[in-house]
Amino acid sequence: MSGQGSKRVAVVAGDGIGPEVVESALEVLTAAGVHLDLVRLEVGLGRWKRTGEALGDEDLDTIKQCDCILFGAITTPPDPGYRSVLLRLRRALDLYANIRPFQSSDLDFIIVRENTEGLYSGREEVGEEESRTTRVITRRGSERIAEAACDLAAKRRLLTIIHKSNVLKSDWLFLQTCREVAERRGIPCEDMLVDAAAYNLVTNPRKFDVMVTTNLFGDILSDEAAGVIGSLGLCASANIGESHALFEPIHGSAPDIAGKGIANPIGAIRSAAMMMEWLGDARAAGRIEAAVRRALATGARTPDLGGSCRTADVTGAVVGCLMAEQSEEPPVPEKDVQKREMQFG
Ligand code: NAD
Ligand code: IPM
Ligand code: MN
Repeated sequence: MSGQGSKRVAVVAGDGIGPEVVESALEVLTAAGVHLDLVRLEVGLGRWKRTGEALGDEDLDTIKQCDCILFGAITTPPDPGYRSVLLRLRRALDLYANIRPFQSSDLDFIIVRENTEGLYSGREEVGEEESRTTRVITRRGSERIAEAACDLAAKRRLLTIIHKSNVLKSDWLFLQTCREVAERRGIPCEDMLVDAAAYNLVTNPRKFDVMVTTNLFGDILSDEAAGVIGSLGLCASANIGESHALFEPIHGSAPDIAGKGIANPIGAIRSAAMMMEWLGDARAAGRIEAAVRRALATGARTPDLGGSCRTADVTGAVVGCLMAEQSEEPPVPEKDVQKREMQFG
């Protein structure tokens, strides 16, 4: 992937543990033999404190010229007027599908979260006595997230539509639209109210395969899902649009452990693997994921998983697993990577 085949990746390490876990992910990509043209951008709280701006228009232009973004995490500054950098990027690049796979030794399911509308519409009125946020559900928004979920479910067993249509009239449109898409595509499908889904996720998580839901429900259910598989630090995500994509661990900047060198880097490493798959290098993605599993199986665990390893130890274990695999295997000629549809499963 060197020379003409090199992909340009905007690296937004961000705040708190963001830079710590992004460095781990970059180390693992290098060990996997991946060559990328990295464009590092200072974006986030640090930049906001220095300049009063967390993300500039020129950064957005630079990002648009890159193939995709590798993102760490950003701390929300203590300012009610502040609009999240991540939400700005999702909106500006129309990254409508937030794909969050959850895997452990005995669990394997995916949350497909609508990523541009719902309660994240940005339509807010703030008053002294009353404040409002408008929850926007559109047919087009529901259709395209249902299609993305069906793309994944087509290679798996079941689609579950998660909603709250017993209370929220807007969710009738979401539910009916998702059902229509699943029916047209011949995907086995059921639906569940979000409160029941939250309960089932804890009591019977094997029930789920591909879950599709609206923006805020997906945000909350995915942190819950992370708890079910063991830690927020294990979980990765892809924010996908028609022409851009952003890859990030699902966790935040974790100020409580920032700078201590104990953040779990696996979510960021897995996000880098998802990025390689999206960039068309499924082989690198598969090798990184396999190395993560082997490293975890050998007991490389940070304190969030009950272990005593540091970020650097876990990163080193993943790199070690990649190297060990390389020495067992004959070299394979490098191929130019082609951007293609995201496919998991
Ligand atoms: P958080 O996800 O940062 O942390 C929640 C808990 O999980 C903390 O106890 C933290 O130590 C732990 N944790 C998270 N990631 C971990 C990892 N990799 N290894 C080990 N432990 C990990 O959520 P929060 O504390 O509610 O938010 C902190 C800040 O991050 C806020 O400003 C929030 O707005 C922001 N945030 C940003 C993103 C993002 O940029 N993608 C996502 C969520 C939250
Ligand atoms: C996530 C985060 C973001 C969200 C925040 C930081 C805006 O929690 O990606 O899950 O709410 O979508
Ligand atoms: Mn979240």
